[in-house]
Amino acid sequence: MAKMQIAYEGNKVLRKKAQEVKVVDHLVGQLLDDMLDTMHANNGIGLAAPQVGISKRIIVIELPDDEDGPIKMINPRIVEKEGSVVGLEGCLSIPNVYGDVERAEKVVVKGLDEKGKPSRIEASGLLARVFQHEVDHLDGVLFTDVATNVRAYSKEELEQAEEEGRYEPALDTV
Ligand code: CO
Repeated sequence: MAKMQIAYEGNKVLRKKAQEVKVVDHLVGQLLDDMLDTMHANNGIGLAAPQVGISKRIIVIELPDDEDGPIKMINPRIVEKEGSVVGLEGCLSIPNVYGDVERAEKVVVKGLDEKGKPSRIEASGLLARVFQHEVDHLDGVLFTDVATNVRAYSKEELEQAEEEGRYEPALDTV
């Protein structure tokens, strides 16, 4: 159990293309556990390894009230995209800034699980958005690169966006 430091915008690690994981060993398992601890400590719902200073293609995701538990994925690739939806996003590495990002509505993601076995996940809605945000992190892309109307939002504005169905709380912790 270890909480890691979050890398914030301006840290070069966030701009590097992260390395493929060649061997899923106990060190990768340890990193996954530490990333989950860090994500939980920050009330996050998604985290990519570069956000804790590690330039490797590893992500964790856990949506609120998800009984299936956390998703741990190594070398994730988005292999199918369908539809398009615009929604407000933030990022754990860029506090207090939001913007509208167009994402696919549904995605199919392939990668490896924590045991190194092939894993395939079909995602829609919030989960699809978080997958796309995290995979972007692995390619050195921040949401502010692909968003429009990037700026600070007040609590009231966020509540309004939520009412209008353009925002899900916790999308500032990805
Ligand atoms: Co982020």
